[in-house]
Amino acid sequence: MITLGIETSCDETSIAILQDGVLKANIISSQEFHKDYGGVVPELSSRAHLQLVLPLLRKALSQSEIELKEIDLIAATAGPGLIGPLLVGLSFGKSLAYSLKKDFIAVNHIEGHIYSGFLMNEKPNFPYLCLVVSGGHTLALLVESESEIIKLGGTIDDAIGEAFDKVAKLLGLGYPGGPLIQKFSEEGDPKFTAFPIAQLDNRYDFSFSGIKTSVLRFIENNYKSSEIMNLAEKENVAAAFQKAAIEPLLRTIRNATEEFDVKSVCIVGGVAANKKLREEVEMLGEQRSLKVVIPKMEFCGDNAAMIALRGQMLYKNGVRHDLNENAFPRNPINLFRQRPGLV
Ligand code: KG4
Ligand code: ZN
Repeated sequence: MITLGIETSCDETSIAILQDGVLKANIISSQEFHKDYGGVVPELSSRAHLQLVLPLLRKALSQSEIELKEIDLIAATAGPGLIGPLLVGLSFGKSLAYSLKKDFIAVNHIEGHIYSGFLMNEKPNFPYLCLVVSGGHTLALLVESESEIIKLGGTIDDAIGEAFDKVAKLLGLGYPGGPLIQKFSEEGDPKFTAFPIAQLDNRYDFSFSGIKTSVLRFIENNYKSSEIMNLAEKENVAAAFQKAAIEPLLRTIRNATEEFDVKSVCIVGGVAANKKLREEVEMLGEQRSLKVVIPKMEFCGDNAAMIALRGQMLYKNGVRHDLNENAFPRNPINLFRQRPGLV
């Protein structure tokens, strides 16, 4: 079975071809020009997706040595994400399905991330603890099967990736902030100062806006503005922030693996690309004899391979969508089963 995956929910245009379990192509084009604006400009992103989807499809087909007519299923991201960019990929997918008379599945982007561990040779085992750490989401989930997900908790304010991006901006490092904070942290001292980590009623919830505000106050109190901070000072603040941002994730892994019988731990989404986070989680896994699956870099950020995989998974479970499926900017309220009495 050959599945074509299409992903355009934010600033990555991506097209993938998955033949049964073998990934034939996963072409990702990141829209670098948003850097000049300090964040993603939705309308510019939509236009770039429009220009890129067709050339990327051609590239993916030629790399896979597969013809369009050989494709059995078209899977496109329907949401959550930026509505304009989503509409480009979704409409493209639906048009292809209509004109080629192929089956179609509208994929939830977050579900794409959640099951992205299955793109790896070493796959997670059910039930697994999944931490979704991206620019728009921070979730702690118990993934029981291909169709059952229990939400343990999530962020009550900013997403973790958003905090990385905002702190990078406060330090004047640029955009996107995650990789820059990582780079500056490498030379910095994480013990330079301790930013506070929130303790919430539900121990599986997260809060990142407090850490971000503490960084702001720290800069104001000690330097007045980031413009007069020297390189070493920026590196130290970046390292101390990164430490404080990662710690709640490690705490969640410790708590959840003690409370629930999880067979693996999976960290997914853009922030899972963070080197320090990967090292710390691998180390925790070794200490506690836990199987840790963190997708390789290519599958951490937004990519169509995970969309093709999730589409194929749903298709094999009997799901079919018609061409009335619409794009949605936010997650449907009942996407995950809530843990009784908690969330
Ligand atoms: O999953 P993703 O590509 O897009 C969303 O669905 O949000 O995640 C993007 C987020 C951004 O906030 C970016 O700064 C962050 O992932 N990110 C990182 C790293 N690489 C990307 N955060 C920390 N360290 C990184 N190395
Ligand atoms: Zn994403």
